[in-house]
Amino acid sequence: MNAASDDETRAHRARSFGRLAADYDRIRPGYPAAAIAALPGGPVVDVGAGTGKLTRALVAAGHRVVAVEPDPGMRAVLVGHDLPGVEVYDGVGERLPVPDGAAASVVYGQAWHWVDPDAASAEARRVLGPDGLLALLWNLPDLAVDWVAELNRISGQPEPREHPEAPVLPGFGPPEVIDTRWSQELTPDELVLLFSTFSRVSTREPADRQSVLERLRDHLARSPVTAGRATLDYPYRCLTLLYRELAGKRT
Ligand SMILES: C[S@@+](CC[C@H](N)C(=O)[O-])C[C@H]1O[C@@H](n2cnc3c(N)ncnc32)[C@H](O)[C@@H]1O
Repeated sequence: MNAASDDETRAHRARSFGRLAADYDRIRPGYPAAAIAALPGGPVVDVGAGTGKLTRALVAAGHRVVAVEPDPGMRAVLVGHDLPGVEVYDGVGERLPVPDGAAASVVYGQAWHWVDPDAASAEARRVLGPDGLLALLWNLPDLAVDWVAELNRISGQPEPREHPEAPVLPGFGPPEVIDTRWSQELTPDELVLLFSTFSRVSTREPADRQSVLERLRDHLARSPVTAGRATLDYPYRCLTLLYRELAGKRT
């Protein structure tokens, strides 16, 4: 695949979430409290907020949240949750609808890999106040578990994943990494539905998509660990990367 069509495919996948918003909201994991415990008090800008999976964890932890999400379908579900103290805006990480220095933290849940990292780093630095934090979070399937790694392989999820675990970001020091292990209890059907919301699966041609979902179902029905189980604990590592600005950038 050449660079231009690779970019097009990525852009297509970045815009693919809205039509799946209800399934996404029902089945995607939330975030464990330990993954956000280090965020300082004060306003949090939740970028690529989607249907509000991370937003809800932030609200539960007592934060005032400004949620920014470009997809109208995802935003509609988020607004429908009617979360107290949450302002919701259309916007992207490269151009945030937030004044200079207004945020104590800027967070991305499962969304940093969709932005231009240089532009989004500069924009995060613009909106962060002194001692502000940029936090990138990912729920990653625990690929040390064989049946989980096999589901990943069948669905064509990348390994290693397309985002390095700790990218270097301009203007920020090396991140502190918080690695939280947790799991989501799902029926086999729900687990297949979860995979159907991954952009690498959802953007396939219908027949191809059905074939992947069938193979996932088949694997769950035949693997000795998962066969015949009413529910499964799908294991995650939730990685939180906490970035602080390098000293000296403010003039
Ligand atoms: C995988 S979802 C994550 C949603 C939510 N944060 C969560 O944890 O479930 C990625 C979200 O990023 C949004 N997105 C895509 N491009 C973006 C950009 N340039 N800036 C901000 N968000 C973007 C998508 O519309 C989608 O809602």
